Amino acid sequence: MALAVMDSSSRYGLVSRALHWGMALLFVWQFSSAVARVWLEDTAIEGFLWGAHSQVGVVLMALVVIRAVWAVMNASRRPPAVSVMAKLGHVALYGLMIVVPAIALIRQYGSGRALDVFGLSLMSGGGERIEWMTNLGGLLHGELGWALFALVVGHVVMAVLHRKLTNHSIMTRMA
Ligand code: HEM
Ligand code: HEM
Repeated sequence: MALAVMDSSSRYGLVSRALHWGMALLFVWQFSSAVARVWLEDTAIEGFLWGAHSQVGVVLMALVVIRAVWAVMNASRRPPAVSVMAKLGHVALYGLMIVVPAIALIRQYGSGRALDVFGLSLMSGGGERIEWMTNLGGLLHGELGWALFALVVGHVVMAVLHRKLTNHSIMTRMA
């Protein structure tokens, strides 16, 4: 059966899948760049990956807004959560997917520096430095970013375990 655009109770539709897997790829880039920044300092790999961290992060910010709106629109027809923990886990993923880049953008604004995203000028820079904004980002962006990384690892492990240990066919809902 052809894949529907909207979600249904047995599987996620075209748009939800495109957003899930497209963003998953971008998150691989995003976390690799953070790992490279910490463990591969001053290498060419860091230069390549970290060089696009802010720009890829902005793209993820835009996509998660679309994804959240889509999730709300499809809330009543989506496959039901397999457990309360799965539901809470997905809500936590959304929370961090929104908060982590949002805090980075607030810090960027507060730094008074310009921000270009793939040639598009998002912030022109030159403004006053706003202390609380830069402090907030310094305190939380990296920490919550790593928390999101841990949650994603847990999510992938649970998805694979569910496939192996139970007869819930959750992988076919999304894959
Ligand atoms: C969902 C998107 C994002 C994720 C998952 C993410 C993740 C991370 C992580 C894990 C770190 C810590 C690296 C370390 O420990 O050294 C980090 C640092 C950083 N990120 Fe992001 N980031 C995202 C979006 C953004 C955006 C949109 C910007 C800029 C507009 C940005 C700018 C930075 C900067 C400047 C640092 C270095 C300073 C710090 O550790 O806070 N990030 N990011
Ligand atoms: C290899 C990587 C991944 C696998 C195998 C995977 C697998 C799955 C599966 C099977 C579902 C459906 C679960 C259900 O309906 O109960 C799902 C949903 C979900 N996944 Fe993943 N996932 C991966 C990566 C990611 C990443 C990187 C994120 C976010 C950073 C993510 C966030 C979500 C969210 C929020 C849902 C709920 C449905 C939605 O709103 O899209 N996943 N995933």
